Amino acid sequence: YLAALGAHQGEIATAPVQPEAAEIVVLYGSQTGNAEGVAELASDRAKARGFNVRLLDMADAGKKAFKEPRNLMVVVSTQGDGDPPDTAESFHELMHGRKAPKLDDRTRFAVLALGDSSYEHFCQTGKEFDARFEALGAQRIHDRIDCDVDYEEDAEQWIESVLDRYAEFSDTISHASQGSAVAVPNAAPQTSYSKKHPFHAEVLDSIVLNGRGSDKETHHIELSLEGSGLSFEPGDAIGVVPQNDPAYVDELLDKLSLDAEAPLGEDRSLRDALLTEFEVTTLTRPFLEHWTEVSDAAELRRLMDQEPRDELRDWVEGRHIIDVIEHFPVKKIDAHTFTQALRKLPPRLYSIASSYEAAADEVHLTVGIVRYEAHGRARGGVATTYLADRVQPGDTVPIYVDRNKNFKLPHDDDTPIIMVGPGTGIAPFRAFLQEREERGAKGRNWLFFGDRRFRCDFLYQAEMLQWRKQGLLTHLEVAFSRDQQEKIYVQHRMREHAAELYAWLQEGAHFYVCGDGERMAADVHGALLDVIRSEGKFGEEGAKEYLRELQQAKRYQRDVY
Ligand code: 2AM
Repeated sequence: YLAALGAHQGEIATAPVQPEAAEIVVLYGSQTGNAEGVAELASDRAKARGFNVRLLDMADAGKKAFKEPRNLMVVVSTQGDGDPPDTAESFHELMHGRKAPKLDDRTRFAVLALGDSSYEHFCQTGKEFDARFEALGAQRIHDRIDCDVDYEEDAEQWIESVLDRYAEFSDTISHASQGSAVAVPNAAPQTSYSKKHPFHAEVLDSIVLNGRGSDKETHHIELSLEGSGLSFEPGDAIGVVPQNDPAYVDELLDKLSLDAEAPLGEDRSLRDALLTEFEVTTLTRPFLEHWTEVSDAAELRRLMDQEPRDELRDWVEGRHIIDVIEHFPVKKIDAHTFTQALRKLPPRLYSIASSYEAAADEVHLTVGIVRYEAHGRARGGVATTYLADRVQPGDTVPIYVDRNKNFKLPHDDDTPIIMVGPGTGIAPFRAFLQEREERGAKGRNWLFFGDRRFRCDFLYQAEMLQWRKQGLLTHLEVAFSRDQQEKIYVQHRMREHAAELYAWLQEGAHFYVCGDGERMAADVHGALLDVIRSEGKFGEEGAKEYLRELQQAKRYQRDVY
């Protein structure tokens, strides 16, 4: 890394930078680090062209950032239902409220939005900032780009194209330095393995954690990192590069009357590409638009054109690409036309469930296998069924480490932590606890765990009870939702322990949530607000402010999915 940095600085030193070279502020909002990674790449590329660059996290950005006119590159992701990243929430609110700074056309901006086109509110946060900066008076100098899960190449092109625009504006920047951009390394790689060059990790073990009678299937998977040189920290995730289900791919080929061996590009067959390269299940807006064109089906066109989109949303629910093909068949299609609107098969991220300090040659995952039936067809999650059904101990799985700076243990081992992790949300907390045990950290640890039934769904029960007995876990609260008539969830346990929970927060505890992001995370957030309000004698606004401050101080961290 240092060598790369040295080379990098050398590059800049020789580039013809004027003393008052134009400044670019790369403003980013990131949840898991993808947007931050893109921002870092933009920063490197801008530096290589001789710009002065400032990387600014929205978490640290306030009104002051706009006192002077700015050249902005804005990189921001969108969460589930169209929300900004947790750490960007305050800034998002500030910019959209009455107290937003007034800008003029000397502030220039361009927005890169990250998102997932299988969600209705695709890239919503980026769209909002794009519209808002313009409404506040700033000058858009480049079109926004909305990037899907396979964003890398698009992002890189956009960065170069925006920098071209900024170079046009700036006479202090020498165009001659542009060529050197090629020689500058990308954002310093942490390891040599990545999405594109994964490490093939041997599966050491795969155990079902649920007991008999459970309606869940949660696997504990142990992978070998031997020989990889890979390292990781608690809170990081493993990216798994999966393959599609061959039975599904063959059915797809059959329905399309396409030849499995039809060549696609250089040296791969259509079937291979559908297995390893493209996402062939999840429906996205671009695919639906493409299929409306090729099928020319009146009913599909009607669904697509209708506003509001309620009927389309209902139809798409629980359906996959194969259902669209079945419902709106085409007479004849070639391999290229079919694959044209498919996006790349994205890797899936799983929070690491073990500590590198405790076991450096292994990495453990806790994976909830997704299987369900919808519209008369058995369905399965691509990566979860790949891990559960299609690889066995002894096989290898392509993986890489995906760092998550926003989900980290406190630097100070004495700081108490509160962890809320129902279901597979327990994974990173097993890593936290292993790490703290290994380090002999003195800070108190409090875990809230929940699942359906005590008898068969208490994940890692023996370990957790042992840790409580040893005292590593100061408290262990469990909520089994289906052991009684009424639902009992982790947030109920939080409310029962409101006084002590608030006392821990007052003593500086960090609060972590991992697991379901659709409802659990919001309900836990609500419970936390209630606890703060009642115990701290705050009003509604005061409690919110307290939580916002926790968030800004990185003492309230979430890893939800
Ligand atoms: P349920 O399936 O009985 O509704 C892990 O999946 C645990 O989280 C299960 O016990 C599940 O309960 C529970 N759960 C479901 N919805 C939740 C919510 N909104 N808040 C907290 N826990 C929830």
